[in-house]
Amino acid sequence: MRVVVLGTAAGGGVPQWNCACRHCSAVRSGIAPPRRQDCVAISADGEGWYLLNASPDLREQLMSATSLSPGPGPRQTPLRGVLLTDGELDHTLGLFQLKEADGLHVWAPEAVRETVLAREVVASYRRWEWHRARESFEVGGLVVTTVAISDKRPKYAAESTLDGPWVVAYHVADPATGGTLVYAPCLAEWPSGFSKLCSEASCVLLDGSFYAPDEMHGRTAGEVDSAAQTAMGHLPMAGVSGSLAMIRETGGQARWLFTHLNNTNPVLDPASAEHAAVLDAGAEIPYDGAELVL
Ligand code: MLT
Ligand code: MN
Ligand code: ZN
Repeated sequence: MRVVVLGTAAGGGVPQWNCACRHCSAVRSGIAPPRRQDCVAISADGEGWYLLNASPDLREQLMSATSLSPGPGPRQTPLRGVLLTDGELDHTLGLFQLKEADGLHVWAPEAVRETVLAREVVASYRRWEWHRARESFEVGGLVVTTVAISDKRPKYAAESTLDGPWVVAYHVADPATGGTLVYAPCLAEWPSGFSKLCSEASCVLLDGSFYAPDEMHGRTAGEVDSAAQTAMGHLPMAGVSGSLAMIRETGGQARWLFTHLNNTNPVLDPASAEHAAVLDAGAEIPYDGAELVL
């Protein structure tokens, strides 16, 4: 299985257009590389590709990933479909940019499939197939298992009474190589059974939104306190039950990579103590464009 990490930032990217924090400023002054919003491409054979989420930066991400270039026919594309972990705008706005594609397949948790804004709009332009992400299904020679994460609804669907899960993770296995990827960019808490799944995986792409549970406090105009940050559904890295502690406890063979990095997260600075703590736990902070063969 081939994996291309197309984007590693949380919503807004780094730099965020309306943010002058030190991380966003470091990118503007050329000290740090920019990060586009979380999105991954996977393929069993290098010929048919599937996206894990569709970021608002999708056009630029597709342009920069030569594996996903169109051809050899004038209107041929290797992009076959999209798997959504949730319905957040930051994971679904890219669907609008795919409206040139006919016959695309999209998988999503049922509640997301029923509410995601792009579905009805794109239907006026193209015929796509929308599938419920069942417990286990196959995409282009890869076996996908869906892991329920939480019932956090996107703000635009806050009033929905549909049953969850609203947020899932995916376990993707390549039966030909035995390689496995766990993709969990929105991890509200560490689900039961998740450690076992990860310990047996080749690579885990994990929610790296926040380092500390109160990180948003004082750094955003909206003054987000730690309760409001927790409600955002992203397990922080630090703390006794944070993801770094869980990585240490889990062990196993997996390569652990953090994605969905928020612009408040100090790990963005490779010289920070927090970045060093990530490396010390055996995990990595990849850059956009990282490629893996599993
Ligand atoms: C999230 O990851 O929590 C969302 O992208 C935040 C949002 O758009 O409200
Ligand atoms: Mn997000
Ligand atoms: Zn910033």
